[in-house]
Amino acid sequence: MWNVKIITAYPEMFPGVLGHSIIGKARANKKWSLNVINLHDFGIDERKSIDDNPFGGGPGMIIRPDVVEKAVMSVTKNIETNMPLVYLCPSGKSLNQQDLVHYSQDEGLIILCGRFEGVDARAIDSIGFKRVSIGDYVLSGGEVAAQVLVEGCVRLLPGVLGRSESVLEESFSKNLLEYPQYTRPQVWVDNKKEKHNVPDILLSGHHDKIKAWRKKRSIEITKKYRPDLLKKT
Ligand code: ADE
Repeated sequence: MWNVKIITAYPEMFPGVLGHSIIGKARANKKWSLNVINLHDFGIDERKSIDDNPFGGGPGMIIRPDVVEKAVMSVTKNIETNMPLVYLCPSGKSLNQQDLVHYSQDEGLIILCGRFEGVDARAIDSIGFKRVSIGDYVLSGGEVAAQVLVEGCVRLLPGVLGRSESVLEESFSKNLLEYPQYTRPQVWVDNKKEKHNVPDILLSGHHDKIKAWRKKRSIEITKKYRPDLLKKT
């Protein structure tokens, strides 16, 4: 079973979205499992501190390396593990669909969520965490990012999505964004009394032509919003 261990200062933020819908059902059906590790359980001194001021000055607090190491060792028993170790922070490698495919094919993930101003860099490097970002923007911590990462992986696990929700046709699977989709009503009259039709081709029943139209629209949409993806194909 694909197993996720999440090390966080805010364990109450989990399972969060991961407890709902397809991902929550997949967990109930034992397609994946979740262990949440509370960094505060490994705090030092009588105050159980997990963080301290940054050397060299500056705002905010930094999570201590010894606290992180103890938390990691509590899940790996010793520091050697074959599970990928991911530290979520804005200054990491940008996550993409291919990364999700790789992680979902591994035995699971150990995720460390950053908070405050970050985690002592020595812990990240010596334990061997890979720095991963979910995009070029800054969140107040890695907990939402962890849920994004896990949700993206779990839906790729065998037996999680039904055939109707196949992952083959979706955005990024061929470095293209997905074509637009339509459903009933066939003619939709909006609030401003404007009429909107569904593209005729989709009502034609010509499967080859529909396929070609969808490919063309995928390329157009990718050109418009993500021209960088087309350079990769
Ligand atoms: N923590 C704060 N911002 C983040 C981001 N963009 N990606 C991953 N973790 C983060």
